[in-house]
Amino acid sequence: MEIVDLADDNRKLWMVCLEDWSDEMKGAGNKKEIWFGKMKDKGLRVKLAKDDNGVIGGMIQYTPIEHSYIQGEGLYFVNCIWVHGYKEGRGNFQKKGMGKALLKAAEDDARQLGAKGMAAWGVSLPFWMKASWFKKQGYKKVDKDGVAVLLWKPFTEDARPPKWIKQVKTPTPVPGKVAVTTFVNGWCQAQNLVYERAKKAASEFGEKAVFQEYDTFDRNVLLEWGIVDGLFIDGKQISTGPPPSYEKIRKLIAKKVKKIK
Ligand SMILES: CC(C)(COP(=O)(O)OP(=O)(O)OC[C@H]1O[C@@H](n2cnc3c(N)ncnc32)[C@H](O)[C@@H]1OP(=O)(O)O)[C@@H](O)C(=O)NCCC(=O)NCCS
Repeated sequence: MEIVDLADDNRKLWMVCLEDWSDEMKGAGNKKEIWFGKMKDKGLRVKLAKDDNGVIGGMIQYTPIEHSYIQGEGLYFVNCIWVHGYKEGRGNFQKKGMGKALLKAAEDDARQLGAKGMAAWGVSLPFWMKASWFKKQGYKKVDKDGVAVLLWKPFTEDARPPKWIKQVKTPTPVPGKVAVTTFVNGWCQAQNLVYERAKKAASEFGEKAVFQEYDTFDRNVLLEWGIVDGLFIDGKQISTGPPPSYEKIRKLIAKKVKKIK
């Protein structure tokens, strides 16, 4: 196995989260591309794992925490680690040590860059990005927001623990219309996909639906709402992990449109 840096020959693959086989991924739009354009000058780091045959099977992306959606200082934050686990395309690379190797490479890199520690997020559920996996890699839980767990591994004695930025406001309904409100940051293709689906679905209802978009890459917007990625229909949050289908979002809007007086 070999850990390599992001380069011209693997950037396209990383951009689609190693899912170059997936038609769904094609619907995720260009938000990650835009995010990359801004983050490459703000300390974004990306590494990829190749197996012994030179096939890329895993990726990790991490940024200075000051340029993430977490509160903290002097740390790096892993917003995504993903070892391809589907049978489709390149196949399942999980549980062969790739994740561990990627995280170790990222930690070594962060230390060299002078970071005081590493932070990461996971969920306290037995699937998706399990917080338990990070615990096994020596991370400690430091904050919680529902099922989302923030973990960290300090490298120095003076490292200060990170904190979630929590939700402070909820979008309000718009009289006489269905309000479809999206919050999107760009770092996650799954969340970018939700945004694109919601935008398209809302447009089907013409004047009856109003589409609102908040760019949470803007830290002021992020702090004003305390929401990084999310979809709300008439102020009600729709669960977006995993992303709801286009059809489901369209149906939810249609139901509300019927009730407009
Ligand atoms: C979590 C993940 C990165 C781990 O990578 P991996 O290559 O499968 O894991 P590794 O083989 O490196 O595992 C390292 C260790 O963790 C253990 N482990 C593996 N999966 C685990 C799990 N789900 N829970 C707890 N421990 C686990 C392994 O047994 C191994 O233990 P060892 O060090 O004692 O041998 C990978 O499974 C993954 O990508 N999961 C989906 C995450 C996701 O949804 N990412 C997108 C979020 S934006």
